[in-house]
Amino acid sequence: MRVLAIESSCDDTSVAVVSDDGSVQALRSLAQDQFHAKFGGIVPEVAGRNHSIKILPIIDETLKEAKLSPQELDGIAVTNRPGLIGSLIVGLVTAKTFSQVLGKPLIGVNHLEGHILAPFLKDKDYSPSFSVDSEFLALAVSGGHTSLYLVSEVGKYQVLGKTLDDAAGEAFDKFAKMLGLTFPGGPQVDLLAKGGDVKAFAFPRSMILEDTYDFSFSGLKSSAARLISNFNQEQRLEHRQNLCASFQEAIVDVLLHRMGQASKEFGINKLVITGGVSANSRLRARAEQLAQRQKWQLLIPPMRYCTDNAAMIGYAGVLRLAKGERHGLDLGPSPQSWATDFV
Ligand code: KG4
Ligand code: ZN
Repeated sequence: MRVLAIESSCDDTSVAVVSDDGSVQALRSLAQDQFHAKFGGIVPEVAGRNHSIKILPIIDETLKEAKLSPQELDGIAVTNRPGLIGSLIVGLVTAKTFSQVLGKPLIGVNHLEGHILAPFLKDKDYSPSFSVDSEFLALAVSGGHTSLYLVSEVGKYQVLGKTLDDAAGEAFDKFAKMLGLTFPGGPQVDLLAKGGDVKAFAFPRSMILEDTYDFSFSGLKSSAARLISNFNQEQRLEHRQNLCASFQEAIVDVLLHRMGQASKEFGINKLVITGGVSANSRLRARAEQLAQRQKWQLLIPPMRYCTDNAAMIGYAGVLRLAKGERHGLDLGPSPQSWATDFV
Protein backbone atom coordinates (compact mmCIF):
# COMPACT_ATOMS: atom_id res chain seq x y z
CA MET A 1 0.00 0.00 0.00
CA ARG A 2 1.11 3.53 -0.77
CA VAL A 3 -0.39 6.72 0.66
CA LEU A 4 -0.14 10.41 0.09
CA ALA A 5 0.49 12.10 3.45
CA ILE A 6 -0.04 15.71 4.45
CA GLU A 7 1.34 17.44 7.56
CA SER A 8 0.39 21.03 8.34
CA SER A 9 -0.18 20.99 12.12
CA CYS A 10 2.18 23.83 12.95
CA ASP A 11 4.43 25.88 10.68
CA ASP A 12 5.95 23.30 8.31
CA THR A 13 4.07 22.39 5.14
CA SER A 14 5.06 18.83 4.33
CA VAL A 15 3.88 16.17 1.88
CA ALA A 16 5.13 12.60 1.38
CA VAL A 17 4.43 9.32 -0.36
CA VAL A 18 5.05 6.37 1.98
CA SER A 19 4.53 2.59 1.69
CA ASP A 20 3.35 0.22 4.38
CA ASP A 21 6.89 -1.11 4.95
CA GLY A 22 7.90 2.42 6.03
CA SER A 23 9.79 3.28 2.87
CA VAL A 24 9.61 6.90 1.89
CA GLN A 25 9.17 7.34 -1.85
CA ALA A 26 9.10 11.12 -1.79
CA LEU A 27 9.18 13.84 0.84
CA ARG A 28 8.91 17.58 0.30
CA SER A 29 8.79 20.08 3.16
CA LEU A 30 8.77 23.82 3.38
CA ALA A 31 9.64 25.60 6.63
CA GLN A 32 8.17 29.00 7.42
CA ASP A 33 10.80 30.19 9.93
CA GLN A 34 11.54 33.38 7.97
CA PHE A 35 7.89 34.50 8.29
CA HIS A 36 7.68 33.94 12.05
CA ALA A 37 11.20 34.96 13.16
CA LYS A 38 10.35 38.64 13.46
CA PHE A 39 7.49 37.85 15.85
CA GLY A 40 9.67 35.62 18.08
CA GLY A 41 7.25 32.71 17.79
CA ILE A 42 4.70 31.10 15.48
CA VAL A 43 1.78 33.33 14.48
CA PRO A 44 -1.14 30.96 13.77
CA GLU A 45 -2.79 33.23 11.17
CA VAL A 46 0.44 33.54 9.21
CA ALA A 47 1.06 29.78 9.41
CA GLY A 48 -2.42 28.95 8.06
CA ARG A 49 -2.12 31.43 5.22
CA ASN A 50 1.28 30.10 4.15
CA HIS A 51 0.03 26.50 4.20
CA SER A 52 -2.86 27.45 1.92
CA ILE A 53 -0.46 29.04 -0.59
CA LYS A 54 2.05 26.18 -0.65
CA ILE A 55 0.15 22.97 -0.10
CA LEU A 56 -1.06 22.21 -3.64
CA PRO A 57 2.24 23.06 -5.37
CA ILE A 58 4.06 20.82 -2.85
CA ILE A 59 1.64 17.93 -3.43
CA ASP A 60 2.25 18.29 -7.15
CA GLU A 61 6.06 18.22 -6.69
CA THR A 62 5.89 15.26 -4.31
CA LEU A 63 3.83 13.12 -6.68
CA LYS A 64 6.24 13.97 -9.51
CA GLU A 65 9.21 13.00 -7.32
CA ALA A 66 7.50 9.68 -6.49
CA LYS A 67 6.69 9.24 -10.21
CA LEU A 68 3.09 8.46 -9.32
CA SER A 69 -0.23 9.60 -10.63
CA PRO A 70 -2.83 10.32 -7.94
CA GLN A 71 -4.86 7.32 -9.15
CA GLU A 72 -2.04 4.97 -8.13
CA LEU A 73 -2.37 5.93 -4.45
CA ASP A 74 -4.11 3.62 -1.98
CA GLY A 75 -5.17 6.30 0.48
CA ILE A 76 -4.71 9.74 1.95
CA ALA A 77 -3.24 10.30 5.44
CA VAL A 78 -3.41 13.66 7.15
CA THR A 79 -2.48 15.10 10.55
CA ASN A 80 -5.75 16.19 12.16
CA ARG A 81 -4.58 16.47 15.79
CA PRO A 82 -3.03 17.96 17.91
CA GLY A 83 -2.05 21.29 16.41
CA LEU A 84 -3.03 24.81 15.47
CA ILE A 85 -6.60 24.69 14.17
CA GLY A 86 -6.06 27.13 11.29
CA SER A 87 -3.03 25.14 10.14
CA LEU A 88 -4.67 21.73 10.53
CA ILE A 89 -7.74 22.83 8.55
CA VAL A 90 -5.68 23.54 5.44
CA GLY A 91 -4.20 20.02 5.36
CA LEU A 92 -7.45 18.38 6.38
CA VAL A 93 -9.67 20.02 3.76
CA THR A 94 -7.05 19.31 1.09
CA ALA A 95 -6.84 15.64 2.16
CA LYS A 96 -10.63 15.24 2.19
CA THR A 97 -10.88 16.75 -1.29
CA PHE A 98 -8.24 14.34 -2.68
CA SER A 99 -9.93 11.43 -0.94
CA GLN A 100 -13.33 12.35 -2.35
CA VAL A 101 -12.23 13.14 -5.89
CA LEU A 102 -9.99 10.06 -6.20
CA GLY A 103 -12.32 7.72 -4.29
CA LYS A 104 -9.46 6.71 -1.94
CA PRO A 105 -9.79 6.10 1.83
CA LEU A 106 -8.96 8.87 4.29
CA ILE A 107 -7.22 8.50 7.64
CA GLY A 108 -6.59 11.23 10.22
CA VAL A 109 -3.34 10.80 12.16
CA ASN A 110 -2.20 12.02 15.58
CA HIS A 111 0.96 14.08 15.02
CA LEU A 112 2.63 12.48 18.06
CA GLU A 113 2.04 8.96 16.76
CA GLY A 114 3.89 10.20 13.68
CA HIS A 115 6.88 11.28 15.80
CA ILE A 116 6.87 7.94 17.68
CA LEU A 117 7.02 5.98 14.40
CA ALA A 118 9.46 8.33 12.57
CA PRO A 119 12.59 6.36 13.64
CA PHE A 120 11.21 3.36 11.69
CA LEU A 121 11.01 5.08 8.30
CA LYS A 122 13.35 3.86 5.57
CA ASP A 123 15.00 5.36 2.53
CA LYS A 124 18.11 4.76 0.45
CA ASP A 125 20.34 6.35 3.12
CA TYR A 126 18.66 5.19 6.34
CA SER A 127 17.11 2.08 7.79
CA PRO A 128 16.27 1.34 11.43
CA SER A 129 18.30 -1.22 13.37
CA PHE A 130 15.26 -2.86 14.96
CA SER A 131 11.70 -3.44 13.85
CA VAL A 132 8.66 -1.35 14.70
CA ASP A 133 7.03 -4.58 15.90
CA SER A 134 9.30 -4.67 18.96
CA GLU A 135 8.38 -3.34 22.38
CA PHE A 136 10.24 -0.06 22.89
CA LEU A 137 10.45 3.20 24.85
CA ALA A 138 9.98 6.46 22.95
CA LEU A 139 11.03 9.91 24.05
CA ALA A 140 9.25 12.51 21.89
CA VAL A 141 10.80 15.95 22.35
CA SER A 142 9.62 18.86 20.26
CA GLY A 143 8.58 22.50 20.45
CA GLY A 144 5.12 21.56 21.70
CA HIS A 145 5.65 18.25 23.49
CA THR A 146 7.98 16.34 25.78
CA SER A 147 6.66 12.89 26.56
CA LEU A 148 7.98 9.45 27.36
CA TYR A 149 5.98 6.49 26.00
CA LEU A 150 6.02 2.77 26.44
CA VAL A 151 5.08 1.27 23.08
CA SER A 152 3.98 -2.34 23.40
CA GLU A 153 2.83 -2.50 19.76
CA VAL A 154 1.99 -0.08 16.95
CA GLY A 155 -1.16 1.75 18.06
CA LYS A 156 -0.68 1.04 21.79
CA TYR A 157 1.10 3.96 23.41
CA GLN A 158 1.27 4.26 27.18
CA VAL A 159 2.24 7.73 28.40
CA LEU A 160 4.75 7.21 31.22
CA GLY A 161 5.38 10.89 31.72
CA LYS A 162 5.08 14.30 30.12
CA THR A 163 6.04 17.86 30.75
CA LEU A 164 4.07 19.68 33.41
CA ASP A 165 4.85 23.08 31.89
CA ASP A 166 7.14 23.99 28.96
CA ALA A 167 8.21 21.50 26.31
CA ALA A 168 11.97 21.02 25.94
CA GLY A 169 12.00 22.74 22.53
CA GLU A 170 9.95 25.60 23.94
CA ALA A 171 12.51 25.98 26.76
CA PHE A 172 15.32 26.10 24.16
CA ASP A 173 13.42 28.70 22.13
CA LYS A 174 12.57 30.91 25.12
CA PHE A 175 16.12 30.75 26.42
CA ALA A 176 17.44 31.67 22.98
CA LYS A 177 15.10 34.66 22.92
CA MET A 178 16.58 35.85 26.25
CA LEU A 179 19.97 35.84 24.55
CA GLY A 180 18.61 37.82 21.61
CA LEU A 181 18.74 34.89 19.17
CA THR A 182 16.11 34.53 16.47
CA PHE A 183 13.26 31.99 16.48
CA PRO A 184 13.47 28.99 16.51
CA GLY A 185 16.43 29.24 18.85
CA GLY A 186 17.09 25.53 19.54
CA PRO A 187 19.47 24.96 16.62
CA GLN A 188 21.41 28.17 17.43
CA VAL A 189 21.79 27.23 21.10
CA ASP A 190 23.09 23.84 19.92
CA LEU A 191 25.67 25.55 17.69
CA LEU A 192 26.83 28.11 20.29
CA ALA A 193 27.03 25.42 22.99
CA LYS A 194 29.76 23.65 21.02
CA GLY A 195 32.18 26.41 22.05
CA GLY A 196 31.06 26.55 25.70
CA ASP A 197 31.67 24.85 29.03
CA VAL A 198 28.78 22.69 30.29
CA LYS A 199 29.86 23.33 33.89
CA ALA A 200 30.20 27.12 33.65
CA PHE A 201 26.77 27.77 35.17
CA ALA A 202 24.83 25.56 37.59
CA PHE A 203 21.29 25.30 36.22
CA PRO A 204 18.63 23.22 38.04
CA ARG A 205 17.70 19.70 36.90
CA SER A 206 14.08 20.02 38.02
CA MET A 207 12.42 16.95 39.54
CA ILE A 208 15.32 14.72 38.46
CA LEU A 209 15.38 12.80 41.74
CA GLU A 210 11.62 12.57 42.14
CA ASP A 211 9.86 9.27 41.60
CA THR A 212 8.07 10.29 38.40
CA TYR A 213 8.50 10.20 34.63
CA ASP A 214 7.18 13.74 34.26
CA PHE A 215 9.32 16.68 33.23
CA SER A 216 9.39 20.36 34.21
CA PHE A 217 11.42 23.03 32.47
CA SER A 218 9.88 26.24 33.84
CA GLY A 219 12.27 26.37 36.84
CA LEU A 220 15.22 26.06 34.48
CA LYS A 221 13.80 28.85 32.31
CA SER A 222 13.28 31.16 35.34
CA SER A 223 16.75 30.40 36.65
CA ALA A 224 18.26 31.33 33.26
CA ALA A 225 16.12 34.50 33.09
CA ARG A 226 17.34 35.61 36.55
CA LEU A 227 20.96 34.94 35.69
CA ILE A 228 20.80 36.68 32.31
CA SER A 229 19.03 39.72 33.76
CA ASN A 230 22.11 40.33 35.93
CA PHE A 231 24.31 40.58 32.83
CA ASN A 232 24.65 43.68 30.70
CA GLN A 233 24.65 43.42 26.90
CA GLU A 234 28.43 42.95 26.74
CA GLN A 235 28.44 40.21 29.40
CA ARG A 236 25.59 38.39 27.66
CA LEU A 237 27.68 38.22 24.54
CA GLU A 238 30.81 37.24 26.46
CA HIS A 239 29.07 34.40 28.36
CA ARG A 240 26.80 33.30 25.51
CA GLN A 241 28.56 30.05 24.65
CA ASN A 242 28.91 28.98 28.29
CA LEU A 243 25.28 29.86 28.98
CA CYS A 244 24.15 27.79 26.01
CA ALA A 245 26.34 24.80 26.91
CA SER A 246 25.23 24.80 30.57
CA PHE A 247 21.53 25.29 29.77
CA GLN A 248 21.57 22.58 27.10
CA GLU A 249 23.35 20.17 29.47
CA ALA A 250 20.62 20.61 32.09
CA ILE A 251 17.94 19.61 29.55
CA VAL A 252 19.96 16.68 28.20
CA ASP A 253 20.67 15.40 31.74
CA VAL A 254 16.98 15.32 32.62
CA LEU A 255 15.88 13.69 29.35
CA LEU A 256 18.51 10.93 29.54
CA HIS A 257 17.90 10.33 33.23
CA ARG A 258 14.21 9.62 32.57
CA MET A 259 15.07 7.23 29.74
CA GLY A 260 17.51 5.36 31.97
CA GLN A 261 14.95 5.16 34.76
CA ALA A 262 12.26 3.73 32.44
CA SER A 263 14.61 1.28 30.75
CA LYS A 264 15.58 -0.12 34.13
CA GLU A 265 12.07 -0.29 35.58
CA PHE A 266 10.45 -1.91 32.52
CA GLY A 267 13.48 -3.98 31.48
CA ILE A 268 13.35 -2.61 27.94
CA ASN A 269 16.60 -2.01 26.05
CA LYS A 270 15.11 -0.78 22.78
CA LEU A 271 14.72 3.00 22.82
CA VAL A 272 13.99 5.77 20.35
CA ILE A 273 14.37 9.54 20.59
CA THR A 274 12.30 11.58 18.20
CA GLY A 275 10.85 15.08 17.58
CA GLY A 276 12.56 18.36 16.70
CA VAL A 277 14.83 18.42 19.77
CA SER A 278 16.27 15.02 18.85
CA ALA A 279 18.19 17.01 16.22
CA ASN A 280 20.25 18.40 19.15
CA SER A 281 23.85 17.29 18.67
CA ARG A 282 24.65 17.05 22.40
CA LEU A 283 21.53 14.98 23.11
CA ARG A 284 22.40 12.67 20.22
CA ALA A 285 26.04 12.24 21.27
CA ARG A 286 25.33 11.64 24.95
CA ALA A 287 22.45 9.29 24.17
CA GLU A 288 24.75 7.23 21.92
CA GLN A 289 27.38 7.06 24.69
CA LEU A 290 24.79 5.99 27.23
CA ALA A 291 23.40 3.40 24.82
CA GLN A 292 26.85 1.83 24.50
CA ARG A 293 27.33 1.72 28.26
CA GLN A 294 23.84 0.37 28.97
CA LYS A 295 23.78 -1.95 25.93
CA TRP A 296 20.66 -0.26 24.57
CA GLN A 297 19.53 -0.51 21.00
CA LEU A 298 18.96 3.17 20.33
CA LEU A 299 17.33 4.74 17.29
CA ILE A 300 17.44 8.44 16.57
CA PRO A 301 16.12 9.23 13.10
CA PRO A 302 18.09 11.39 10.68
CA MET A 303 17.30 15.11 10.83
CA ARG A 304 14.77 14.96 7.97
CA TYR A 305 12.57 12.66 10.06
CA CYS A 306 13.27 14.35 13.46
CA THR A 307 11.55 17.64 12.72
CA ASP A 308 7.95 17.86 11.54
CA ASN A 309 7.50 15.93 8.29
CA ALA A 310 4.74 14.18 6.39
CA ALA A 311 6.63 10.88 5.99
CA MET A 312 6.01 9.97 9.64
CA ILE A 313 2.32 10.84 9.23
CA GLY A 314 2.16 8.65 6.12
CA TYR A 315 3.66 5.68 7.96
CA ALA A 316 1.25 5.98 10.91
CA GLY A 317 -1.62 6.43 8.43
CA VAL A 318 -0.77 3.58 6.08
CA LEU A 319 -0.43 1.11 8.99
CA ARG A 320 -3.89 2.11 10.21
CA LEU A 321 -5.43 1.93 6.72
CA ALA A 322 -3.88 -1.52 6.29
CA LYS A 323 -5.75 -2.60 9.44
CA GLY A 324 -9.00 -1.38 7.88
CA GLU A 325 -9.34 1.89 9.80
CA ARG A 326 -10.89 4.80 7.93
CA HIS A 327 -12.31 8.23 8.65
CA GLY A 328 -15.31 9.88 7.03
CA LEU A 329 -15.73 13.34 5.61
CA ASP A 330 -16.87 14.53 9.04
CA LEU A 331 -13.30 14.18 10.39
CA GLY A 332 -12.43 17.39 12.22
CA PRO A 333 -9.25 19.10 13.43
CA SER A 334 -8.48 19.06 17.15
CA PRO A 335 -6.04 21.16 19.19
CA GLN A 336 -5.58 18.16 21.51
CA SER A 337 -5.04 14.44 21.17
CA TRP A 338 -8.19 12.29 21.37
CA ALA A 339 -8.87 10.53 24.68
CA THR A 340 -8.41 7.16 22.93
CA ASP A 341 -5.00 7.97 21.40
CA PHE A 342 -2.91 7.11 24.46
CA VAL A 343 -3.38 4.92 27.51
O1 KG4 B 1 9.12 18.55 16.09
P1 KG4 B 1 9.31 19.97 15.69
O2 KG4 B 1 9.88 20.24 14.33
O3 KG4 B 1 7.98 20.76 15.80
C1 KG4 B 1 7.07 20.61 16.84
O4 KG4 B 1 6.20 19.69 16.73
O5 KG4 B 1 7.23 21.35 17.82
O6 KG4 B 1 10.25 20.63 16.81
C2 KG4 B 1 10.65 21.99 16.76
C3 KG4 B 1 11.47 22.29 18.00
C4 KG4 B 1 11.79 23.78 18.18
O7 KG4 B 1 11.50 24.15 19.51
C5 KG4 B 1 13.28 23.85 17.89
O8 KG4 B 1 13.94 24.90 18.56
C6 KG4 B 1 13.74 22.51 18.38
O9 KG4 B 1 12.72 21.61 17.95
N1 KG4 B 1 15.03 22.12 17.78
C7 KG4 B 1 16.17 22.01 18.49
C8 KG4 B 1 17.18 21.68 17.57
N2 KG4 B 1 16.63 21.61 16.33
C9 KG4 B 1 15.30 21.88 16.48
N3 KG4 B 1 16.39 22.15 19.81
C10 KG4 B 1 17.66 21.96 20.23
N4 KG4 B 1 18.69 21.67 19.41
C11 KG4 B 1 18.50 21.51 18.09
N5 KG4 B 1 19.53 21.21 17.28
ZN1 ZN C 1 6.26 17.83 15.86
